[in-house]
Amino acid sequence: MSEFKGKVAFITGAGGGMGLAISRQFLNHGGQAILIDVKDEPAELAEFSGNYVYVQGDLTDEATVEKAMGLSESTYGRLDYLVNVAGVLWFDRDKSVLDIDMDVWDQVFNINLRSMALTIRHAVPVMRKSNGGAMVHFSTIQCLRGDSSPQDAYSASKAGVGALSKSAAMQFAADGIRSNVIYPGVAMTPMQARWEGNDEIQEAVGNAIPLGRMGVADDMANACLFLLSDKASYITGTDLIVDGGISAKL
Ligand SMILES: NC(=O)c1ccc[n+]([C@@H]2O[C@H](COP(=O)([O-])OP(=O)(O)OC[C@H]3O[C@@H](n4cnc5c(N)ncnc54)[C@H](O)[C@@H]3O)[C@@H](O)[C@H]2O)c1
Repeated sequence: MSEFKGKVAFITGAGGGMGLAISRQFLNHGGQAILIDVKDEPAELAEFSGNYVYVQGDLTDEATVEKAMGLSESTYGRLDYLVNVAGVLWFDRDKSVLDIDMDVWDQVFNINLRSMALTIRHAVPVMRKSNGGAMVHFSTIQCLRGDSSPQDAYSASKAGVGALSKSAAMQFAADGIRSNVIYPGVAMTPMQARWEGNDEIQEAVGNAIPLGRMGVADDMANACLFLLSDKASYITGTDLIVDGGISAKL
């Protein structure tokens, strides 16, 4: 379990479902990390104490991102990976562009896309000094289709994640920095808290998915660690759909 020994990652959304699963797998494989989220530090990280720094902060604030990113160099002397997982889907407030409160639109874009711009901006100089590395950013399959029950701010901001990742892949390839995107399908995490304890809905959603179940956070962590690892050393500027096959179904 030492695939990432000597490597340092900056992982956003580490207090949520997928970010926590990625953090735990990465630390379990010998890595060290700066973890950031607006939420309190999850108790599930404690077993890795000494190998990470947890920052409670808002990723839309550039000074916070800059300071947190600086910890990778001051604490561990390098930065190899950036993992952008933090994001929001506000089911009750995210609607059609005809109806959405434009302050909500701006906040969703700030969290889902500005945070990614800020983390890339402050990670690349440190990654360059560390002789390259890899980035993985989280989008959603929702931005690959239209929806008659729209969540327009979420979908449009997440489409931007794909575009910015491809641009980063081209800009930083010569530095040995790869950039790829994961497009999750439905996964049972705190984001889907509205379905918690509702077996009927979870079963119905699972039955609609070709592989027969909803995703879990570790499905995304498995894909993410592959894209970070040297096994993906020839993969950049691409998109990996991790959805049990649902987007392949017409
Ligand atoms: N769960 C799903 O079904 C699903 C499906 C497709 C895509 N995704 C995407 O995958 C990613 C991870 O989702 P998840 O299911 O783990 O969700 P989650 O809600 O469990 O985790 C997201 C985390 O981001 C954090 N966050 C939000 N705003 C922040 C800010 N301004 N600063 C710092 N942290 C902030 C939250 O506190 C939360 O812990 C998200 O980008 C999400 O859009 C999730």
